[in-house]
Amino acid sequence: MGNFGDWQLGIYLDGLQGVRPDLPMSYAALAEAAEAAMSPELWSYVAGGAGDEHTQDANVAAFQRWGLVPRMLAGAAERDLSVELFGQRFETPLMLAPVGVIGICEEAGHGDLTTARAAAATGVPMVASTLMQDPMEDVAAALGDTPGWFQLYPPSDREVCESFVRRAEASGWQAIVVTLDTLTLGWRPRDLALGSFPQLKGLCLANYFSDPVFRSRLAVPPEEDLEAATGHWALTFGNPGLSWDDLAWLRSLTDLPLLLKGICSGEDVRRALDHGVDGIYCSNHGGRQANGGLPAIDCLPEVVEAAGDAPVVFDSGIRSGAEVVKALALGASAVGIGRPYAYGLAVGGQRGIEHVLRCLLAETDLIMAVDGYPDIASLRRDALRRVG
Ligand code: FNR
Repeated sequence: MGNFGDWQLGIYLDGLQGVRPDLPMSYAALAEAAEAAMSPELWSYVAGGAGDEHTQDANVAAFQRWGLVPRMLAGAAERDLSVELFGQRFETPLMLAPVGVIGICEEAGHGDLTTARAAAATGVPMVASTLMQDPMEDVAAALGDTPGWFQLYPPSDREVCESFVRRAEASGWQAIVVTLDTLTLGWRPRDLALGSFPQLKGLCLANYFSDPVFRSRLAVPPEEDLEAATGHWALTFGNPGLSWDDLAWLRSLTDLPLLLKGICSGEDVRRALDHGVDGIYCSNHGGRQANGGLPAIDCLPEVVEAAGDAPVVFDSGIRSGAEVVKALALGASAVGIGRPYAYGLAVGGQRGIEHVLRCLLAETDLIMAVDGYPDIASLRRDALRRVG
């Protein structure tokens, strides 16, 4: 089998025929193209973050304080980028992080399905948001054999919450990821300036509007009164009172692997594991929720240490293969990407997502090749040095 980096040879050979890639090759060019493709409201929602976006920017900048030690003559002619999670082998260490408006990042409004198809085509697992534009059953079906995990925003209505978990199990999602950093919405000046919040327009609420328990709470169905249904959604979405005491109940709902997303401290890892959680998802939501916090990558070593043998998925600030390599060396079991693939979808549909993934995988692979790390196991903590 070839290496992911071999793809670049094809690009250079095409170049000899005068053909250049029609999709952006750098993150900066990708973001610029995405801004041009999106409405100002959507761009604000996807690209923006909390407060003055200091934490969002720091997520990316913090990676520059780490450098990979190059090792020569390491025999890295063939690289193995596969990882194992919950007894399953994944061909790459990447995951598509849950993005609640991915459904509308494509003009046709079926971005969840398109993302699932890109996952199916590449084998990169999809962690799908509760906030979908198509129901979770349809999205699961589009994944084919590629694993998908369902991300749960636990509604304050416990019966709706349980119904979501039952539906996720029945439709083949293979793990439940409970996101804890968005039990209430953070302060987002960009969106506030536009007075725009997509879900309040009734967008990306398909899992609620198709849910029998949620529907039973409404006087009239969403198809007849979208405003009332959306209003009821707004009342049950936030769940700021959720506490560790509720975790036992969440755990009791399913035998699927359960992960908690938004965990950034060793103490919370230990509490999570004490409550029977199977995996940790270290993330600060890409800096979208609370400004002034730590860059997520700076939290990862403490989280990994406390997690012991439990897998740790990491996201927030991954923009290129260099960040993927560093997150893996700091102990991540797998690495999630958020904005980059949302931009890829906006710019090039399914092909755009696949392009973003290929770029990330090729660069990750080539860094490992050049610097002498043939597989993920060889990317250990001592492969990195603190810079400056
Ligand atoms: C998100 N994220 C997110 N997370 C989650 O658990 N459920 C969700 O519905 C969403 N929705 C969402 C929308 C948008 C527009 C973005 C950009 C992000 C957070 C996401 O899963 C991930 O943590 C971050 O995107 C990672 O940071 P980067 O890669 O965007 O820097």
